[in-house]
Amino acid sequence: MKFNIALLAGDGIGPEVINEAVKVSDAIAKKFNHEITWAPALTGACAIDAVGVPYPDETHEICMKADAVLFGAIGHPKYDNDPSAPVRPEQGLLLMRKKLGLFANVRPTFTFPSLIDNSPLKRERIEGTDLVFLRELTGGIYFGEKGRKDDGETAFDNCVYTRAEVQRLAKKGFELAMTRSKKLCCVDKANVLETSRLWRETVQAMEKDYPEVTVSYEFVDAVAMRLVQWPNSYDVLITENLFGDILTDEASVISGSMGLMPSASVGEHTSLYEPIHGSYPQATGLNIANPLATILSAAMMFEDAFGLKDEAEAIRAVVNKSLEQGVVTEDLATKGSKAYKTSEVGDWLVENL
Ligand code: IPM
Ligand code: MN
Repeated sequence: MKFNIALLAGDGIGPEVINEAVKVSDAIAKKFNHEITWAPALTGACAIDAVGVPYPDETHEICMKADAVLFGAIGHPKYDNDPSAPVRPEQGLLLMRKKLGLFANVRPTFTFPSLIDNSPLKRERIEGTDLVFLRELTGGIYFGEKGRKDDGETAFDNCVYTRAEVQRLAKKGFELAMTRSKKLCCVDKANVLETSRLWRETVQAMEKDYPEVTVSYEFVDAVAMRLVQWPNSYDVLITENLFGDILTDEASVISGSMGLMPSASVGEHTSLYEPIHGSYPQATGLNIANPLATILSAAMMFEDAFGLKDEAEAIRAVVNKSLEQGVVTEDLATKGSKAYKTSEVGDWLVENL
């Protein structure tokens, strides 16, 4: 098969981890007789520097024409410390999500047998964890009206959801649950928030269409607690944008490193695959960042966007082998053992594919 993949490396360690994902993807393509054309495009702080906006129209065109988007990370400290900056790299990410209609962010959380003890959580609590968050990605407080009043003394961010927005996300949740253990958790704050009551009411009304799925309704604060107490009691969780942002960072602790967790964003146009970690500015250019989350995101891309399960499995298998053999970057290296460079991990994976 032939694929055209938009390559959005972004900022910080983005280009370094993307580089390794490209190497591994090209090696897989060679092995399985596919042809990948990469279409690099600017996004984030580097796009602001080059053309003044974080998600240029030209980048959007490239994404719309592509079969998938592989994305690194965006963000730069010069913006984090300047709340008054008129344009911010993150706006590019939000605009990209909106313009590509990426309303569902799929974030799996699982453990790697060889890394169980890397997690700060006790082995017996996390063993066997295999859950997936479906985070709503183009609505809620992220996209509601926001601003200042009273000469800047009052600020507001509105949280707005329509029934249709909840339905399309929940539909994906029910469908995913049907392919797994048929358990769905709707995460909300329906004891306080009106948007959450709309979520709950909408999901409840959909239950009759999926009689085999057992649905639980849990408040977000309780989920935050149970997620680290008994993560393996969850399977598929659906939630609104901000709750999903927070809970998925929390969930990454279960796997032992943020550098391991892939994600997919899907919706109306081209799907996007990206690691859940950020741009890790302190590590930029040092060749020390963990490329595995991006490489595993490429595996998700092969499987979900192109329907190529064997290719995805081959990537996951070689990643597991590298973890078992201790071919890992410094975030995962155990005391006294060698920490491999980002590019060395990529090279090793290519050689061992
Ligand atoms: C994420 C990130 C983004 C978000 C930021 C960079 C805007 O934290 O993808 O989870 O909040 O959605
Ligand atoms: Mn986040």
